[in-house]
Amino acid sequence: MSIVKSAVLGIGMAVPSKVLTNFDLEKMVETSDKWITERTGIKERRILEDEENISQYAIKASLEALERAKVSPEELNLIICATVTPDYLIPSLSVLVQEGIKAVNAGAFDLSATCSGFIYGLAVADQFIKNNPDWKILVIGAEALSRKTNWKDRTICVLLGDGAGAVVMGSSPEPEKRGIIDVFLGADGSQWTLLTLKGGGSCYPPFDKRLPEEEYYIKMQGREVFKVATRMMEKIALELLKRNSLTTDDIKLLVPHQANLRIIEYLRERLNLPKEKVYVNIHKYGNTSAASIPLALYEAEKEGKLKEGDLVLLVAFGGGFTFGGALLRW
Ligand code: ACO
Repeated sequence: MSIVKSAVLGIGMAVPSKVLTNFDLEKMVETSDKWITERTGIKERRILEDEENISQYAIKASLEALERAKVSPEELNLIICATVTPDYLIPSLSVLVQEGIKAVNAGAFDLSATCSGFIYGLAVADQFIKNNPDWKILVIGAEALSRKTNWKDRTICVLLGDGAGAVVMGSSPEPEKRGIIDVFLGADGSQWTLLTLKGGGSCYPPFDKRLPEEEYYIKMQGREVFKVATRMMEKIALELLKRNSLTTDDIKLLVPHQANLRIIEYLRERLNLPKEKVYVNIHKYGNTSAASIPLALYEAEKEGKLKEGDLVLLVAFGGGFTFGGALLRW
């Protein structure tokens, strides 16, 4: 019996053209380009204009991924959109994409797993494709974090950005050479209070006066989250390699969630990887949550750092906490 492996058949990305630099932020809160650069590695981020919505960018990224995969929208069976900042709660962002690209034969749902959302989406698509080898699935990571950013809170507003990335998944034409090898998904709700967006959910509906205004935005206890993120990302990377009898020497490219350059550097050192084997674009986009990994994969490929058949390790960590990893041949 031949093995079925799911693989990325095409990738796309789209980010708003409005750039918010560290120097712009210096005028908004008490911060400095020096502090942001040294503590996070971020230089600028993309932000939606007032009249824009993230669905526009999710649609644009999806159309590019479809074109590159040579798959038509009608061929799609499923659309999975990882996001914590959809245009609306009803309908889901995935349904807006389904309509926008005219994927008339696809089911569609959103997936909420913060910064690990794209990896969760890949894992779900992988399972569907193994059971239905002729299926084509669009996995999107799209976030409008600027809409949930407290622009008066310097501990968070310097970190976040907007953007969308998408991949078309299908069964690999060459399963020995390309495709997803393994995925790791995890969660730890015991420390959920360290990273929250409480307002607007069903506990505290919009305009609920019981909740202070700041709780209608993302809040994070950065130092505490940092400690858990570094520990978990290393653990996931080593676990995925170990259970597939691989070592860090086998990795062609590590593509980590882009939350903080210091977290990425810590991981790189713990895994003993040279700089050229770790992809970084946080300086351009900041933390775009579920969009972070597809944006990084897209640019790594464009820059010639990711070629067909390369062994890639993806690792992510986010609020919840959620965490995840994927090992694949590109
Ligand atoms: N500008 C200037 N000073 C600042 C700023 C700022 N923007 N923000 C905080 N500071 C100050 C603090 O007040 C503090 O001052 P103090 O020493 O006088 O009290 C000092 O800088 C150090 O603050 P820390 O919070 O300890 O700074 P740290 O080095 O930890 O960096 C950061 C903060 C960047 C948030 C870091 O902790 C981090 O990246 N955490 C993890 C982020 C992450 O991985 N999140 C998960 C995914 S996000 C998601 O799911 C949406």
